Amino acid sequence: MKEIKHYLKFSDLSADEYAYLFARTALIKKKFKAYEKHQPLVDRTLAMIFEKASTRTRVSFEAGMYQLGGTVVNLTSEGSQLGRAEPIEDTAKVISRMVDLVMIRTYEQSKIEAFAQHSRVPVINGLTNEFHPCQILADIFTFIEHRGSIEGKTVAWVGDGNNMANTWLQAAEILGFTVHLSTPSGYEVDQAVAGLRGTSSYKVFNHPMDACAGAHLVTTDVWTSMGFEAENEERRKAFIDWCVDEDMMATAAKDALFMHCLPAHRGEEVTAEVIDGPQSVVWDEAENRMHVQKALMEYLLLGRLA
Ligand code: CP
Ligand code: NVA
Repeated sequence: MKEIKHYLKFSDLSADEYAYLFARTALIKKKFKAYEKHQPLVDRTLAMIFEKASTRTRVSFEAGMYQLGGTVVNLTSEGSQLGRAEPIEDTAKVISRMVDLVMIRTYEQSKIEAFAQHSRVPVINGLTNEFHPCQILADIFTFIEHRGSIEGKTVAWVGDGNNMANTWLQAAEILGFTVHLSTPSGYEVDQAVAGLRGTSSYKVFNHPMDACAGAHLVTTDVWTSMGFEAENEERRKAFIDWCVDEDMMATAAKDALFMHCLPAHRGEEVTAEVIDGPQSVVWDEAENRMHVQKALMEYLLLGRLA
């Protein structure tokens, strides 16, 4: 039987596979913009399981799968037997006999790993507490569109040592760039959780201004991620100085970009001047979720086509 390729974390693909995916995304995006049909997945079905809220992930996967000629089934924990304690392994066995691909947004990474182990079809991580690989795929494609290769560049991460930070760090190891990390005390990245091979692809800074100095890309995320709402008040105090503002952007490289996976809270992790300013590419990032995921779904099911 053909080996099943899952996309559960950024390190599931190699630099060579990413080079293919970025080139393929550019082609698929160009065809879409020109109203040219690109339907390699006719009769194929994507099941999406959302155990947390979503706007971008839901719309980008659903619209993307239809554009590829396929169809989509949307499930939530409350609306399915998952919410009534059917084991994840049984759910995986059943769903993967009926559909060709599964996208899951859930809590612990161990849950998606367990699902994948019992799935007959590729499983894609649509966000877990630990990782958000589809977002970083879109972010790096967006960087390439605006500035060319990310290899050798510096990305400043200002904020929580969360799923986005972990995924940026994995990407840096694979694609050869450096992350300058600044997180409040107590919210650092855990190298073991991030699944890193070493420490050479990142540097830690106590002050966010220092992390931004000379960076080619400055990026941040919400102070409180989904699932951590009980810590909201504590986090609001701890993160008060981790707000990307115009001073931070001024210390970055002259043509630095600003990214945020969204949803954003203006006045918390980023000022309105920055996110709505000329260096921000957040809307391109959001749009590119759909284009990269189309290339990803095609690749997981059909392999290299060019
Ligand atoms: N960035 C992102 O994943 O957004 P949603 O939570 O809206 O899917
Ligand atoms: N870190 C955020 C990202 C949302 C897209 C969260 O997990 O809630």
